[in-house]
Amino acid sequence: MRVSELRSLFPQLGESVYGKPLVYLDNAATSLRPVSVVEKWDEMSLRLNSNLHRAVHHTANVATRAFEDARSAVAGFLGADPGEIVFTSGTTHSINLVAGSLGRMEGFFRAGDEVLIAGSEHHSDIIPWQLLAKDKGLSIKVLPVDEKGVLRIDLLPSLLSPRTRICCVAEVSNVLGIINPIKEIVAACHANGTLVLVDGAQAVAHLKVNVKDLDCDFYAFSAHKMYGSPGVGVLYGRKSLLDAMPPYMGGGEMIDSVSWEGSTFAKAPFRFEAGTQNISGVPTLVPAIAMLELMGDPELQAAYARTKNTVLDALTARPDVHIYGLPDDRSAKLPLFSFAVEGVHHEDLALILDKMGIALRSGQMCAEPLMTRFGVTGMLRASFSPYNTEEEALYFIESLDKAIKMLR
Ligand SMILES: Cc1ncc(COP(=O)(O)O)c(C=O)c1O
Repeated sequence: MRVSELRSLFPQLGESVYGKPLVYLDNAATSLRPVSVVEKWDEMSLRLNSNLHRAVHHTANVATRAFEDARSAVAGFLGADPGEIVFTSGTTHSINLVAGSLGRMEGFFRAGDEVLIAGSEHHSDIIPWQLLAKDKGLSIKVLPVDEKGVLRIDLLPSLLSPRTRICCVAEVSNVLGIINPIKEIVAACHANGTLVLVDGAQAVAHLKVNVKDLDCDFYAFSAHKMYGSPGVGVLYGRKSLLDAMPPYMGGGEMIDSVSWEGSTFAKAPFRFEAGTQNISGVPTLVPAIAMLELMGDPELQAAYARTKNTVLDALTARPDVHIYGLPDDRSAKLPLFSFAVEGVHHEDLALILDKMGIALRSGQMCAEPLMTRFGVTGMLRASFSPYNTEEEALYFIESLDKAIKMLR
């Protein structure tokens, strides 16, 4: 498949801003939506709207089937069992669910226990654990990154202790774009009796994920970063864990029986899906996964690899540009480039590039501890998708050069 054919499936790519063709390089924040995803949302909203899992009428059955088909599709996508897939509103919700439920699980955490968090994590994988640590008297330990942004997994043996109950790490950081060695981290943690939660928000759109192969205990991601609907997230949880975990939120449809004396709860995963679910959004995971499969086309992937190398070559050639997240092995980096330019403020650059039609991210990128680690107040980030062309990449590089000259 050619990139132009792929682009025709994403109407927003035809938009202009300030009279310039939109060059959308903010895919790590949220990816654009293909027609197939919007059509699924429309179908669920305009023809099949009904609440799920409760009424006996025809439309309720069809809508429930669409929702459960999405569960099976996600399970297939991750190499998991449908019973291990919980729908949430996003990665943030998925991680809060794990922290909230483990926090409530009899005897799981005792005061003085430890949570180990990678130093490159998004605030979504820091704050829920800090809140829990305050409630339960836990301490937080940090697995640092080196100057290149590579996780110091050599420090794992000294950071893991008999009190480390869970380790939280992104498969790919939203700032560094480096693919972390999850299997190695899981092996070290499991040998220590420590669970592993993987934040897959940035990974799912780019990598083939198999949770059984990774052997992680939890895997969280958002649909809107993989061409699906906003307000939809997934939590994979190992079956034996989900079965043992108490509900995180109470409400309708998560119960077995309710009485004033006490209530019992539905089996996992339904125990974790309280209240009316995202009826229109969750089924969009089916066309979103189909889009990822389409993007796996060898011709598209070859073009994507060329685009990545073009940007990487151009940015690394400039002595005034510092890239954060530069592993020795280029194949360990996704086309997600966070950088700073000497003597120029990231926000000023982002504003000028915006006027040239280029949408990219500037600021702390919800990773303030990582900014502190590198001694910066913010960065610029250009994040690509297979629908971005090499011409767009070259236009970005040229425009960056012009913007830097304007600001100096
Ligand atoms: C690595 C990572 N984790 C978590 C999140 C939070 O995702 P959401 O806002 O969809 O819950 C993001 C979003 O930028 C992310 O990049």
